[in-house]
Amino acid sequence: MSASTRNEAPGVLPRLPHWESPPTDLKAAIAELKPALRARIEASGRTVEEVFAVVERRITERVEEIEAAAGRGEEIWPVIDYAEIEAGTVPAEALARLHRRGCLVVRGHFPREQALAWDAATVEYVESNRFFENYRGPGDDFFGSVGSKPEIYPIYWSPAQMQARQSDRMATVQAFLNAQWRSESEGVQWFDPGRDSLYPDRIRRRPPGTNSGGLGTHLDPGTLDLWMTEGNQRAFRHLFDGYVEEYDPWDAAHRTSGPQYPGSTMCSAFRTFQGWTALSDMDHDQGVLHTVPIPEAMAYLMLRPLLSDVPADDLCGVTTGQVFPALERWHALLLRAVSGIPDVRAGDSVWWHCDLIHSVAPVTDQQGWGNVMYIPAAPWCPRNEQYAAEVRAAFDTGASPSDFPAEHYERDWSGRFTRDDLNRVGRRGMGLE
Ligand SMILES: [Fe+2]
Repeated sequence: MSASTRNEAPGVLPRLPHWESPPTDLKAAIAELKPALRARIEASGRTVEEVFAVVERRITERVEEIEAAAGRGEEIWPVIDYAEIEAGTVPAEALARLHRRGCLVVRGHFPREQALAWDAATVEYVESNRFFENYRGPGDDFFGSVGSKPEIYPIYWSPAQMQARQSDRMATVQAFLNAQWRSESEGVQWFDPGRDSLYPDRIRRRPPGTNSGGLGTHLDPGTLDLWMTEGNQRAFRHLFDGYVEEYDPWDAAHRTSGPQYPGSTMCSAFRTFQGWTALSDMDHDQGVLHTVPIPEAMAYLMLRPLLSDVPADDLCGVTTGQVFPALERWHALLLRAVSGIPDVRAGDSVWWHCDLIHSVAPVTDQQGWGNVMYIPAAPWCPRNEQYAAEVRAAFDTGASPSDFPAEHYERDWSGRFTRDDLNRVGRRGMGLE
C-alpha cells in the first residue's frame, strides 16, 4: 500500500488551469492542461506511467474476468426481478454483481401488458397529431446518423411517458439504483436518492426489417469539461492527484452541481444511471445495447490521454459538441469487454452507470420491433433542480426540453399530459412540491 498512501506532508499541489465554459482555443487549452495534470500526478511520488499502470492492471483483470465469463457462456449483465427490488430482498450477491458491472436488467419492472399498452398509446398519440405527415427529419447529428426515418421520436410529453416517469414502480427502481451510490460525504448531501427529477427524454420505435449501422462506442457524462471544469477536477481528484486507488466511481462528491459544456448530446442533469424501459420484446442479437460493464474504466479513459504516445494537444479524440468516443486506437483494452444485454421483454428496464462506455449493435433485417422509452435515474440535486426549471417551462408549453434540438412538435398537440395529471411523484420531480 505504500505507493498509494498519501504523503503526510504533501506540500502545495501544482494547480490545474480550469475553464468553466469551453475554451476558445481547445487545442491550446489541452496543451496547457496536460503538463499541469502530469505535474500534479507526479507530486504524489509516482510517475504518470506508474499510476496508469496501476489502473491498467486493475482494468485488465476485469476485462479478463468478463472474457472468461463470456467464454463459459455466462450472462454478463446482472438481472434482478422487480419484485425483489420492491420487497427489498435483493440478495447480497446480486448487489455485488450490480456494483461490479455497473449495469442491470430489471425483469418485470412493469407488467408486459402495461408496456405494450404504453407503446400502442404512443402510436395513437403521434398518429392522431399527424406526426409522420409533419416530420421534418432528424434534428441532431448524432442519433440522426442512424437513418432518415424517425426511429427516435422527438416526443417528450405523451401520457405514456409521463405515466411511466411518475409511476411508483419507476420511483422504486430509481431509488434502488441511486442507493448504489454514495450520496453523502464530506458533510454534504450531494443528491437525494429518494427523489427523481423526471428527466424528459425521447422514445425510439425501430420497426421490423430495419437495417441499422448502430451507434459506435461512446460515453455521455461529458466531454472536455470532464477534465477542464473545476467541479469535475474535484470529482476526479483522486485520478488527477495520483492516488488512483482511492478513486470510487460510485462517489457522487462534486458531480451534482457543475456545468457541462454545451453540445448536441449534452445532458444537463446528473444521472446515476442512464436507462430505458422496453416497450417491445427484443432479442439479444437484434441490434441492442451493449456496454463495457466496468465502472472503474473511467479512470482509464481519463488518464490514458496523459501517456506520451498521445499528441500534446489531444485528449484521445475528445472534443466539444460531439460524444466522448471510445476508440480502438486508444481504448482497445476496454473494448474487449463490450457486452450486450440479454433478451428483454416489454416491461423490462435496462440501466447503466452514467460513466459506462456503451454502443448499439448494427442489425440487418431486424426481427420484431425495437421500442424503448428513455428514462434515466436523475436524482434531485442542485444541478437537476436547476434544470427542472427548464423542464417545467417545456412541459407547460409542449416544447422540446432545452437539452434537445428545438423541434417543438408537441406544442399544439392534443392529448398531452398536463399539470393536472401529475401525481405526487410527478410534482416533486418537477419541483412543484
Ligand atoms: Fe449514449
